[in-house]
Order: sequence, then C-alpha cells, then structure tokens
Amino acid sequence: MMRKFTRAVIADFAEMVDMIEQTLAGYWRELGELGEDPARTRQGIVAACSVMLATTLALGVSFAIAQQDPIAARKALMKKNGDEAKIGTQFMKGEAAFDLAKAKAIFASYADAASKVPTLFPDNSKTGGETAALPAIWEKKDDFNAKLKKFGEDAKEAEAKVTDEASFKTVFPTVQKNCGGCHETYRLKKS
Ligand code: HEC
Repeated sequence: MMRKFTRAVIADFAEMVDMIEQTLAGYWRELGELGEDPARTRQGIVAACSVMLATTLALGVSFAIAQQDPIAARKALMKKNGDEAKIGTQFMKGEAAFDLAKAKAIFASYADAASKVPTLFPDNSKTGGETAALPAIWEKKDDFNAKLKKFGEDAKEAEAKVTDEASFKTVFPTVQKNCGGCHETYRLKKS
C-alpha cells in the first residue's frame, strides 16, 4: 500500500520534472531565435528567466498542494468532472449548440482526472476535509483503481471516436455510466 503510494508520488514527481524540462527547452529555442542584437537578447533572457521561475514555482506549488491536501485535490478534479458533465448533458438535450472542440475537451478532462485521482487516496485521507469518500475505497482499493482505469480508458476512446453530434450522442452516455457506477459504491450519498 505505502509502496504503491510512494511509487505514485515518484511518478508525479517525474512528470513534473518532464514538464519543467519541456518548458526550459521551449525557452532555449526562443532565445536562439531572438538573434544577435545584444539588447534584445538581454531582454529575452530576463523575460525567459522570469517565466521559467514562475512556471517552476506554479508547478511546485500545485504539486505540493496535491500531496499535502489530497482530499481538496481529488474533490477539485471531481468537481471539474461535474462541470464538464453538465456541458455534455446540455449537448445531449440540445440545450447548447454542439461544439466538437468542447466535446473532445470533456473527454480529455475526464481522462486527465482518471490519471491523477488514483494517487489522491492515501491512507491518511480517509476522513476530514468534508470528504464524501467511503471506507470501501480503502477496503477494495484494487476494484476502485480498476474502475478509475476503465473510466480513463472509456474517456480516451470516446475522445478519439467523437467526430460530430451524432457520434457524441452515442459515446457520451457510455462514458457517463462510469460516474454513477463508482459513486454508488464509493461515495457517500447526499442526503
Ligand atoms: C472510480 C470512482 C469514480 C468515478 C469513475 C467518478 N467519480 Fe466522482 N467521486 C468519486 C469519489 C470517491 C468522490 C468523493 C471524493 C471526496 O469527497 O473525497 C467523488 C466526488 C464527485 C463529485 C463531488 C465533488 C465535490 O465538490 O466534492 C462530483 C461532482 C463528481 N464526483 C462527479 C463525477 C462525474 C461527473 C464523473 C464521471 C464523468 C465521476 N465523478 C466519476 C469517485 C468517482
């Protein structure tokens, strides 16, 4: 259990380092393109350094928050799921004009949540923070994580399959089954 969590934290950390590396590579390229003009280059270096610093700090802070307050972090990801689901429901009911980019974004956001949520249920986060997570999560962790994995896979598949309103209306309900299918067992019902 603990080893799994440690591995997940290390994986997160590696992801963060990757992101910083990509950002740095981007700025090196831009610096190269600035050319030989010494004044412009100097300005460019100052600008690039401040952006790099801000990016590093922002990544570090969000990483630290996720690790320190996994309950808030998982609730925020789930809340985003809920916001995206609302957009999808509006498309289903014809309450909003169908938009392919937004439709794909719904599934991309789900897949993102599914990939991040598994590390946000450490043993010390069973209570507190007004969590609605049920003890069953920790009693049946393998099943819970399998449900998250399937949710992520279904979302990715849907993102690839959706090309228009008709295909959206076929795939969206299938993906949505994952929400209730998990909440039923693992989330405290609102009274
Ligand atoms: C594998 C399990 C699982 C799946 C799949 C899942 N959820 Fe959740 N969801 C949870 C758990 C557990 C909580 C309670 C988290 C807490 O309070 O700590 C939750 C909480 C929520 C919340 C309340 C967030 C808040 O503000 O406290 C919303 C909204 C939500 N989920 C929407 C969705 C939607 C929409 C989907 C599908 C697109 C979805 N969830 C898929 C397990 C899941």
